[in-house]
Amino acid sequence: MTLINSDINTAKTILEANDLVAIPTETVYGLAANASNEEAVKKIFILKKRPEYNPLIVHIGAITDLEKVAFNIPTVAYKLAKAFWPGPLTLLLEKKDIIPDIVTAGSKKVAVRMPNHPLTLELLRQLSFPLAAPSANPFMSISPTKPEHVKSYFDGYLKFILDGGSCINGIESTIIGFKNDKAILYREGSCAVSEIEKITGKLHFVPSVSAQPQAPGMLKKHYAPKTPLVVTSNHRNLLLQNSGKKVGVLTFAKIKENTENEIYKSLTQNESLTEAAASLYATLIELDALGLELIIAEYVPNKGIGKAINDRLRRASFL
Ligand code: TXA
Ligand code: MG
Repeated sequence: MTLINSDINTAKTILEANDLVAIPTETVYGLAANASNEEAVKKIFILKKRPEYNPLIVHIGAITDLEKVAFNIPTVAYKLAKAFWPGPLTLLLEKKDIIPDIVTAGSKKVAVRMPNHPLTLELLRQLSFPLAAPSANPFMSISPTKPEHVKSYFDGYLKFILDGGSCINGIESTIIGFKNDKAILYREGSCAVSEIEKITGKLHFVPSVSAQPQAPGMLKKHYAPKTPLVVTSNHRNLLLQNSGKKVGVLTFAKIKENTENEIYKSLTQNESLTEAAASLYATLIELDALGLELIIAEYVPNKGIGKAINDRLRRASFL
């Protein structure tokens, strides 16, 4: 049985024994281990069934901890950290030796962020090491935004879930790297690009939809439900083409009445992209549990955090 409560001391004891704990963040739940201990980090890859070529983000509890894990930090990186931390922004920086190669999949760059969740920040401040943590889901499945999602994935195989309630942002962090002090966007995420560009100027985008595992920002298909999912700008045509099938329809607009074969779920009650991001994964997990033949997801408005939502919908689709 996996224990779930909000006791930081339990989390601390388990992590200090180099075992795993699921931790809440403002984006998604993370599956955390002592980032400076290779054996502890190995357990993350095994439990997630994650290939070792896919590196992990290191979580710190204060901006001043940045220099413990990275060096040669560009001025613009500091500016970003000051502007957005604690928060959903990950910075790719040159790695110090305290971080073992397994964390970065052999790369000389380490991904670092300071998450914005009171329980996890307090935990990080009490620990004498940073935490390596990918999202707390099996490889290729939907990221968890509630403790019960983590439990359904790993019940019995994980000692403890630190219960910090539902994740407020609901989509993973934005990943930024640097080349000659210029900022590069590797993964869209909860930190809006338009806000980052106020500090960095126009970002160079390296498309993360790459099949090449070494590419930062990872794999093309990801975050996917088991039910086939298609993404479209208008669900009606696809509904007609699939009439007779049991389908789920995921929309940004207000929902229609369900029929025998059509289950509608809206990501937001008031056309809010923030609310849509927060409910995206939980809604996909709900739809995935209904035994449907197909999920038809409609793109949300492609602005602000909507870009990250659309990126995740594309990666969840089987096309
Ligand atoms: O919001 C988030 O970022 C969440 C929470 C738990 O912090 N974490 C998260 O981790 O989304 P994960 O492992 O699901 O996705 C992080 C991605 C990896 O897939 C990897 O491709 C990229 O970040 N990454 C991590 N370290 C990297 C590195 N050293 N170089 C290039 N890419 C890296
Ligand atoms: Mg993930």
